[in-house]
This record gives sequence, structure tokens and C-alpha cells, in this order.
Amino acid sequence: MASIEMKHIVKQYGDGYPAVNDVSLDIADGEFMILVGPSGCGKSTLLRMIVGLEDITSGDMIIGGKRVNDLAPRERNLSMVFQNYALYPHMTVFENIAFPLRLSKTPDDEVRRRVNEASDVLELKEHLERKPANLSGGQRQRVAMGRAIVRQAEAFLFDEPLSNLDAKLRGQMRTEISRLQRRLGITTVYVTHDQTEAMTLGDRVCVLRKGKIQQVASPRELYEQPVNLFVAGFIGSPPMNFLPATLEGNRLQTPFGPIALDERQVAAVQGRDLLLVGIRPEYFEDASLVDEAKRPYGSVFRARVDVTEWLGDSQYAYIPYEAPEAITAQLRDLSRELDSEELRTQAIVSIDSTSRIREGREADFWLDSRKVHVFDPQTGENLTRDAEAGARLTQMASEDRVEQVQHAQATGQTVGGQSSGGSGASGAHRAGAA
Ligand SMILES: Nc1ncnc2c1ncn2[C@@H]1O[C@H](COP(=O)(O)OP(=O)(O)OP(=O)(O)O)[C@@H](O)[C@H]1O
Ligand SMILES: [Mg+2]
Repeated sequence: MASIEMKHIVKQYGDGYPAVNDVSLDIADGEFMILVGPSGCGKSTLLRMIVGLEDITSGDMIIGGKRVNDLAPRERNLSMVFQNYALYPHMTVFENIAFPLRLSKTPDDEVRRRVNEASDVLELKEHLERKPANLSGGQRQRVAMGRAIVRQAEAFLFDEPLSNLDAKLRGQMRTEISRLQRRLGITTVYVTHDQTEAMTLGDRVCVLRKGKIQQVASPRELYEQPVNLFVAGFIGSPPMNFLPATLEGNRLQTPFGPIALDERQVAAVQGRDLLLVGIRPEYFEDASLVDEAKRPYGSVFRARVDVTEWLGDSQYAYIPYEAPEAITAQLRDLSRELDSEELRTQAIVSIDSTSRIREGREADFWLDSRKVHVFDPQTGENLTRDAEAGARLTQMASEDRVEQVQHAQATGQTVGGQSSGGSGASGAHRAGAA
């Protein structure tokens, strides 16, 4: 297992396009790092540079303390699981998992031991003699992961491994990968454009946009303290609402009435004509259902509801609002870039599932003003971000991770000695990138 350090990594393809543009990122030994961003932002390119399948135009790639820019993939001893994992149809599951060990001429009983251990963890024991064609999508996925596990690589690299699976299986595999990663304690870099996967799997998440890092932080920090409009709009589902606002005294005037800001916030946003206020759907509530204790921390406004959607555990209400053309154009561009269809001049509001608010009627909503963020509409910068609060959240996440890894390793089986410093095996059993 190893740490991965990237220093000012640039990738220019033949046509000169900088697909990855000055990326510096440190991934700790045993950490689960997510690379996320919309299509074309450079995620796969970055991953392929780590594994050695793509030349690095400039910058340093350092794995386990060693500069690997000029090493071939098989000399880096990393394990990659692709979007379209290739299993050999004529081989049994056992032989598919054993494949890299056969390549490196590992002795038979060692192969048997490692495949058995991996298949135990992956719950593939009773399928070892079957052929891939007879397996479900999720089982095939696990076979591909088994192959990565037996190699005892320095790190796992995943490129959208779940994107071909249906929603239910994707959920199961997500849990599976998370459990495995904790148990093996192996450094993992995982590419996805799915923000749910990013949020549930990552110790930290690196958000990319057009080849540049926007923010690297724990899921909670990204969610609660995004650096800009792009991160704020990308993370969270349904997405954050962005409303036009102007500052008057210590209050923001918005289409949903005034929102009071505290002193720090006022100082941060002063001097700009037009602002964008970001409000997550769950910062709203049906005003008639808000605790008396909470009520003073927010404001109440009246609005006509366009549509309501009842989902059992919660309920969404859509509230249209008016915005100046400058703002609508900006939001339209953002939605396009984030691959989301909706033109957001309607707010999505999450209210309690017992709320009687119904479409076509006016209703009173409460809005928690403590949590709103205010953005500069021109630059997209989050003007009210609290960097210290954000850093605390990421610190907490890193403490939690240490505890989870200890717990997972104390309770789970170990695979091929990987949970106790498996890197020792890398010399003897090198088998090239998967
Ligand atoms: N072989 C290539 N030659 C030239 N340009 C390329 C090549 N491969 C990728 N690119 C460009 O580099 C940019 C980043 O591509 P990359 O495949 O890394 O994106 P991605 O974030 O993985 O996207 P997706 O989510 O669609 O897989 C894109 O603009 C793409 O067009
Ligand atoms: Mg890709």
C-alpha cells in the first residue's frame, strides 16, 4: 500500500487541449479518494496517468515516495478496474481471478490460497467453477475486483466501475466496495460522475472542472462549505437552489422575502449590486410544522406552489420565482455544464411528508437562514464560506476513517496478508496492470 502524490500534473493531448491542467493532490496511504466532475472534466485522464496508461506532459507523479513518471504500468504495481471490465468468457471464475497470478508464475498452492481468500471476502465461493456468462452483473463485477485483490497491489484504481449496473445493484456494490476498502485498508482512487457515489464512498472527494481542481474535502465539507457555485451546484440531490438577491442593511432581499445575515456574512458580501443566494431544499420547511424553538433562526414567506411530489419519507414542492435575465443566463450555463436538465428558476423545497401543502395553492414556508451561502454571480465564488468550519468537518472525517479502518480490520478476515502491510509482496508477485 502506498500514498499517491501529484505535483502540478498537466496532460495535453496531441491537439494541445489541456485535459488535466495543473493538478496537485496528495492521497494518503489507505485513503479512499474520489475524483468527480461532469463528463470531459479529465477524471479518466488523471486516473490513467496514475496507473501509467497515459504519458504525463509535465509535473511529478509520486507513488509510495518514488517518482513513477517514467515507469511502465506493470512496474507501478497498481490495480485498475475499468468501466467495462473484461472477463475471459472461456475461463472459470477461479481462473479469471487467478489470472494475474498465473501471469507472474505464482506457485499453484499460493494461487489457490489467495483466490480462496479473495472469493471469501467477495462471497464468490460457490461460483468459483462457473463461467462469467452465467453470472449476474454484480457477481461479474466482484470477479473483476477479485482479480485486483489477489494482485496485492499498492493501490486500487476504479474508473466508473458501477456505471453499467442497474440502480439496485449499484447500491449494493457501493456498500460492498466501501466495506472491502475499509477491510483491506488499501489506498483507492475512484472515478465517478455520480455525486451519490462520491458522497457515500469517499474519505475525501476531489471535484474537477475542465481539468482543474475546484475543491478537495470530505463529503460533508463539500456539502456544507462549498468553495464556489460549481461545487455547490454539483454536490447534493436535488440540487441547491440559487436565488437572486440584493443586500439591504443586514438583510438579503430575495424573491422569497428578506433573509437576515449575521455580521460576518454581511461583511463578506458588502459592496456588490447583485448576489446569488444558495439554499438547499432541506433548509426549507412547511411553516406550520416548524418547532417553536427553531422558528426564530429563519424567516417565513408565502408562495404559490407549482407542483408537489410525495415520496413517502419526504415531499418536494416546486416554487417558481422571477429572476433578472443576467441571473437566468448564468444559471442556464451552470445547469448545462452540470448536465442537469432543469432551468432553475423554480426552487425545489423539501418539506415533511406529513405536510398538507398542495400544488396550485399558496402556502407559508419557513427558511433556515443560518445555513445559506451567498455567491458572487460573476466569479461564482462563495463569499460566505467559513473555511475554519469546513476544515473541522474534514478533520472529523479523517478521525472517523481511522476508527472505521481499525474496526473493519479487527472484525473482518484478512486477504493475502494485505491488511497487514501487503506491499511486501509487490516484488515477488508483480503482474502488470490489470
Ligand atoms: N486520446 C485523446 N485525445 C485527445 N483528447 C482526448 C483524448 N482522451 C480524452 N481527451 C479529452 O480530454 C478531456 C478529458 O477526457 P476524460 O476522458 O479524462 O474525461 P472524463 O472526466 O473521464 O469524462 P467522462 O465522464 O465522460 O468519462 C476531454 O475533453 C476529452 O475530449
Ligand atoms: Mg471517463
